[in-house]
Amino acid sequence: MKFFLDTANIEEIKRAAELGVVDGVTTNPTLIAKEKRPQKEVIKEIAKVVKGPISVEGNGCTCEEILKEAEEFSKWAPNVVIKVPMTKEGIKAVRILEKKGIRTNVTLIFSANQALIAGKAGASFVSPFIGRLDDNGQVGMDLIRDILQVYKNYGINSEVIVASIRHPIHVLEAAKAGAGIATIPAKVLESMWGHPLTDAGIKRFCEDFAKTAKL
Ligand code: E4P
Repeated sequence: MKFFLDTANIEEIKRAAELGVVDGVTTNPTLIAKEKRPQKEVIKEIAKVVKGPISVEGNGCTCEEILKEAEEFSKWAPNVVIKVPMTKEGIKAVRILEKKGIRTNVTLIFSANQALIAGKAGASFVSPFIGRLDDNGQVGMDLIRDILQVYKNYGINSEVIVASIRHPIHVLEAAKAGAGIATIPAKVLESMWGHPLTDAGIKRFCEDFAKTAKL
């Protein structure tokens, strides 16, 4: 399973990259706004650290606007992926961009039919938002299972990025479902490392090691 980091914060990205657990990054306008710096500057900095896909999103609504933004964003780094909204205009743009060799990530997916349409259009990635579905009283993970099943049935190659992850159980469930990628907030990634029994075990082994070292 690939781990993407769902953040635009360079310090969080550097810390995770040092540990070798960042296969890519996803950003969105909300995450960029938190950094209080121009998007171009932030993305270029991320691209110095991460060689995997970096998703970048604009606010274009028409196909023409999305294509124009994509042209600009893809100049920033060779691994930039264009986030495209799951709309008719967005899907038109996906077909054109993918034909040109510019990778797309169809975002704000909330149903398997939307994922089917994005997959048929040839999107490199699709991003179903499971946390927002959970927040809305639906089981987000059911959507992941449905999409994986549908893609398997028809040999659709779009990579599924499990997005809007809120806690480590989401990552575990996504892995059990066989999703290829989870995009994980830094805080959630951090909480996946530890276990109190690991800490207690290390403490005990260290103490016992010290005892035998004196013999
Ligand atoms: C994914 O690409 C999005 O950036 C992100 O996962 C959205 O998550 P949120 O629902 O926590 O905003």
